Amino acid sequence: MTQKFSQADVSIIGLGKLGASMVAGMASKGLKVIGVDVSAQAVMAVNNGLAPVEETDLAATIRSNSQLIRATPDYSDAVMNSSISFVIVPTPSDERGAFSLEYVAKSFESIGNVLKNKDDYHVIVLTSTVLPGSTRYGLLPILEKTSGKKCGPDFGLCYNPEFIALGSVIKNFLNPDFYLLGQFDEHSGDKLAAIHQIVSSNNAPIKRMSLENAEIAKIAVNSYVTLKISFANMLTDICERIPNADVDVVSDAIGTDSRIGRKYLSGGLGFGGPCFPRDNVALAFLGQSLGADTPILEANDSYNRSYSLNTLKRLKGRLPESGRAAVLGLSYKPFSHIVEESAGIYLCQALQNSGYHVSCYDPLALVEAKKTLNKNFTFCPDTESCIKDADIVFVTTSDPVFTALTPSVFVNSSARKVYIVDFWRCLSHNFAKTENIVYIPAGRSYVSKKKESLLSNLWERR
Ligand SMILES: NC(=O)c1ccc[n+]([C@@H]2O[C@H](COP(=O)([O-])OP(=O)(O)OC[C@H]3O[C@@H](n4cnc5c(N)ncnc54)[C@H](O)[C@@H]3O)[C@@H](O)[C@H]2O)c1
Repeated sequence: MTQKFSQADVSIIGLGKLGASMVAGMASKGLKVIGVDVSAQAVMAVNNGLAPVEETDLAATIRSNSQLIRATPDYSDAVMNSSISFVIVPTPSDERGAFSLEYVAKSFESIGNVLKNKDDYHVIVLTSTVLPGSTRYGLLPILEKTSGKKCGPDFGLCYNPEFIALGSVIKNFLNPDFYLLGQFDEHSGDKLAAIHQIVSSNNAPIKRMSLENAEIAKIAVNSYVTLKISFANMLTDICERIPNADVDVVSDAIGTDSRIGRKYLSGGLGFGGPCFPRDNVALAFLGQSLGADTPILEANDSYNRSYSLNTLKRLKGRLPESGRAAVLGLSYKPFSHIVEESAGIYLCQALQNSGYHVSCYDPLALVEAKKTLNKNFTFCPDTESCIKDADIVFVTTSDPVFTALTPSVFVNSSARKVYIVDFWRCLSHNFAKTENIVYIPAGRSYVSKKKESLLSNLWERR
């Protein structure tokens, strides 16, 4: 390993999906960064100018700023040679639905052991997602015990979570709507705010507050966004039952109201991925543990978890009851290989449980999907082989590979009908007009005589 520099501006502990992108993002703003990880592979990758994880622009940004970046497994090297350390190690969900502090606690212990021998003031910034109270009551005592020093006069402490989406982590990190800065005291907060001012490309406002307010705000943002998603999904269901209704028209109108906003309001499928579902569960856990009433969070979680299955029930009568089903899209969103809590995966399982033979395809997530789904699914190498001979095709993400499809790919020589369920209404209009294709866009009015009479019965004068 070439020693590029000794004194850095910051150290970043945890070179995973978020931490590695923060290393790259900070270096792109001219800061000298030391990365730390327990994984020798991650350290080696960064020192070789490579990305330790897959993320948009990560490899290129690390490479082009390699003179400002080095990595080490050694906490002492990193903490002694920087004045502020960001901790971004995992906080997996525990059996209670809370976030485990196991990895963060180990990291804080290692930092505290170095602080014991460091004379200069140092700020520790927790970026990993935690539940309220964790920083002050779970982690601060570890730092004080291992260092033998006092938070405030001897070292600083902040909670500074990020709001990023996988696939655009560096961009989001440099251009946030705001920085959420929880501070133990003013001095710690000043040191961190100075870093934000250097890093921000968009001069984002910095919201400074207590550690606890920041912990609540972080988890509340994610949880609120999931409420919007579920609300839009509920509108999708309602619109299908009313003549002349279209969820996109309704969402567009209500999203124009500044109290609501258009983002995350396109009804389709449920929310998934590594953050949204677990953050919602964790906030419910916290509220309940403290005696607060959290029925909204619980209802949202159960509504979302059953959404794929309920969608199938909703489609009953419109689709063949058996046969071959093809699922296009297994990741929790386009351009991702992550299948954690993905609606596409849940749909595959619901289809198999309903007796369909299921083939599936995803441009990036096949390897991960194979680890999650049982071997009775047919994993296809491309869209064409996946939809070949399918009676029903489900399009679960708006990946460009799927949106570019044309009707001719679906209509096979036997001229039998193919049913296409388009959850995001992302296929071209031609599908609706093609013979032998039954195109089913989620959220657009589909009214049977029975459903129409349910509505008209409400209003006809007797
Ligand atoms: N990934 C996201 O979309 C996202 C978004 C917002 C917040 N977060 C939060 O950020 C935190 C990290 O998430 P991630 O997705 O980057 O995780 P990750 O699993 O991708 O990476 C974590 C890294 O930390 C390393 N690590 C573990 N223990 C360590 C230790 N004691 N010392 C040094 N390194 C250690 C691991 O080897 C790994 O490289 C979590 O709390 C997560 O909730 C993640």
